[in-house]
Amino acid sequence: MTDLRPLSDADPAVADLLGREAERQRSSIHLIASENFVSRAVMEASGSVLTNKYSEGYPGRRYYQGCAIVDAVEDLARDRAKALFGAEHANVQSHSGAQANMAVYFGLLEPGDTVLGMALDQGGHLTHGAGVNFSGRIFDFQAYGVDPGTELVDMDEVRQRALDTRPRMIVAGYSAYSRLLDWAAFRAIADEVGAYLMVDTAHFIGLIAGGAHPDPVPHAHVVTGTTHKALRGPRGGLILTTADLAAAIDKGVFPVTQGGALNNQIAARAVAFAEASTPQYREYAHQVVRNAAAMAAEMAAGGARIVSGGTDNHLFLVDLRSLDEDLTGRDAAAVLASVGIVLNSNPIPFDPRPPYRATGIRIGTPAATTCGMREPEVEATARLILEALRHRGDDARLEAVRAGVAEITAAHPAYPEGFPGHV
Ligand SMILES: Cc1ncc(COP(=O)(O)O)c(C=O)c1O
Repeated sequence: MTDLRPLSDADPAVADLLGREAERQRSSIHLIASENFVSRAVMEASGSVLTNKYSEGYPGRRYYQGCAIVDAVEDLARDRAKALFGAEHANVQSHSGAQANMAVYFGLLEPGDTVLGMALDQGGHLTHGAGVNFSGRIFDFQAYGVDPGTELVDMDEVRQRALDTRPRMIVAGYSAYSRLLDWAAFRAIADEVGAYLMVDTAHFIGLIAGGAHPDPVPHAHVVTGTTHKALRGPRGGLILTTADLAAAIDKGVFPVTQGGALNNQIAARAVAFAEASTPQYREYAHQVVRNAAAMAAEMAAGGARIVSGGTDNHLFLVDLRSLDEDLTGRDAAAVLASVGIVLNSNPIPFDPRPPYRATGIRIGTPAATTCGMREPEVEATARLILEALRHRGDDARLEAVRAGVAEITAAHPAYPEGFPGHV
């Protein structure tokens, strides 16, 4: 018999950990650029009966019986994604952003093909060709980076790298870059060398959905993304493409790189796509960008050097050398976590330190904005960060920062009416 006891009775150890995590989420300011807080509806769909169903294949072409409902769920999610992003085709099955990228590579390329992507240590992602990642091990990835002076992607350099390396695909997109990319220029270069253009929007797909960021869909052959970052949906990946590439992309997901779909997550993605189509979400996406700009400006006014001088999206990088030559990203992130401000250490372009220690921190505003924080709160948070980093050996001052954090989190909890679901 299936055990119908609540989690707290059936497995107190796991229930206790979930409770503690809820408390951690409630009592911190969250600035990890890739995190967010989902709605109750997303949480319910994610933790639903659909987790019980197996479905390999696509709606109308499944390998198992009993798929009529999950077919309808997946059709709904695909239709909503297509409408939201104006795409000809959507695949909503990828278990994560990395798997979406893998599916595109395997769908459109052969092992050993040359791909041009942004270097990991200059803002790109592991799946854009890092040597430790499947992408760098299976494909011949070449890299472009940012200009050492401006810390911006230089399209002349991208073009030259493309002419020199003749890639079969160019990957545009990033995990740690605070400016806009020129989609039309990327497409022109891809066309010039006969390459596919894949734009990895994992980080900023939510801003695109909300109209707060230039849209790559009209320019790219394929757009990949994640549904759990700024988009504020469940964990998962998304691929948008033109109709002519739909079959190759779908095959790249199943059967090439995945088995059964996570139907519960697909339902939750459908919910998130509908939420992201609302005027409230549009306002949210614009506020995310306004908050990042306000926070970066406040940090800069307090003496911090912002990589590239500012931000046009939801994130920015702080060069910690401007505060203290000896301060590593790792130590800075640890001090901030100890006062309830959660973010991550991040290499800056041309970082003299190894990635684990790093010289920067990355700050993102999607989660804090979901909590209702606006310019006054993010500016106050910027001042708290500077205070904690400058006085990290001074317990009394750190205690005062902790009190400042508590004031902000009390006024701006993620879930004012309590956590949805079991916790
Ligand atoms: C640009 C980019 N692509 C892909 C991914 C991978 O997403 P996931 O962690 O869901 O595999 C990330 C995650 O941070 C990312 O920033």
